[in-house]
Amino acid sequence: MTVLKTRFTDTFGIEHPIVQGGMQWVGRAELVSAVANAGALGFLTALTQPTPEDLAKEIARTRELTDKPFGVNLTILPTIAPPPYAEYRRAIIESGVTIVETAGANPKEHLEDFQPHGIKVIHKATSVRHALKAEQLGVDAVSVDGFECAGHPGEDDVPNLVLIPAAADKLTVPIIASGGIGDARGLVAALALGADAVNMGSRFLATVESPIHDNVKQQIVANTELDTELMFRPLRNTARVASNSVSREVVRILEQDGGSFEDVRELVAGSRGREVYEQGDPERGVWSVGLVQGIINDVPTVQELVERMVTEAEGLITERLTGLLAASATA
Ligand SMILES: Cc1cc2nc3c(=O)[nH]c(=O)nc-3n(C[C@H](O)[C@H](O)[C@H](O)COP(=O)(O)O)c2cc1C
Repeated sequence: MTVLKTRFTDTFGIEHPIVQGGMQWVGRAELVSAVANAGALGFLTALTQPTPEDLAKEIARTRELTDKPFGVNLTILPTIAPPPYAEYRRAIIESGVTIVETAGANPKEHLEDFQPHGIKVIHKATSVRHALKAEQLGVDAVSVDGFECAGHPGEDDVPNLVLIPAAADKLTVPIIASGGIGDARGLVAALALGADAVNMGSRFLATVESPIHDNVKQQIVANTELDTELMFRPLRNTARVASNSVSREVVRILEQDGGSFEDVRELVAGSRGREVYEQGDPERGVWSVGLVQGIINDVPTVQELVERMVTEAEGLITERLTGLLAASATA
């Protein structure tokens, strides 16, 4: 089996430079343990669990399904009624988890709590300046989420072909390229751009072990790279979601009618997004997916996906890219 050795695999003790980032309603034991068993790094999503006690139980459930390392994602939400973060941190620390992915805002208070316990922190950022800030705060690696990504791409709209090398020019900690990656081509490109690993959300969403209704997986396969919407742009809290009747309505209300969050609150309710995954009606609510769905053409097992990516990456490096070199040498 092919092994790609990078600063990421060394720092985190993970076999392959492939990460499954936090995914609300999806990052549960079934998926995360499958990712771990395939030799990649999966993250449970803390806030998918209604209480810190439920998170502790989900961590224990994941341990029953794998003896390999996995992490927990703690997303910092822009909300006036924040979840009890300190208690979620406590559940993570007391469960003996050794890797945390933070995202959404400044991770300072989380780092201060995690680091004395030897927990490694990967912060996910959407700009070079936020990545640098996280490095200064002492994170162990940065995930750099380009404009292509599902979820929150930020407001700068810089795609990864520029964002990753721009980050690599400035950062010294390992970099994980996130957004728009779904196969070996994306993996090899990200490594060439200066990344040490890749983070994928959408690609893992459409795998056998992803705990969502098969209709949603088939919708991802059917969708093209044109089938996403950028929602909440006027609120400066942009979210890339699947294009459907609900997300198009939200965009219309906010952008054409000049509506406020109150006018779309019911349409974007998290409970409706959750029902999409549970009931399998892709038009029920808003759900996250990235541009990469345009190159997602099947629903493999996680093991098949990871193996295919690293094997094909080897082929790309040793045959296609090396072949180009040979061709120019004899030209
Ligand atoms: C269904 C779904 C839910 C997500 N939820 C979260 C989340 O709760 N917290 C977070 O930090 N990122 C979340 N993300 C973003 C992913 O972790 C990852 O950064 C992103 O999917 C990368 O882009 P890609 O989809 O092009 O691979 C979510 C992505 C998807 C597809």
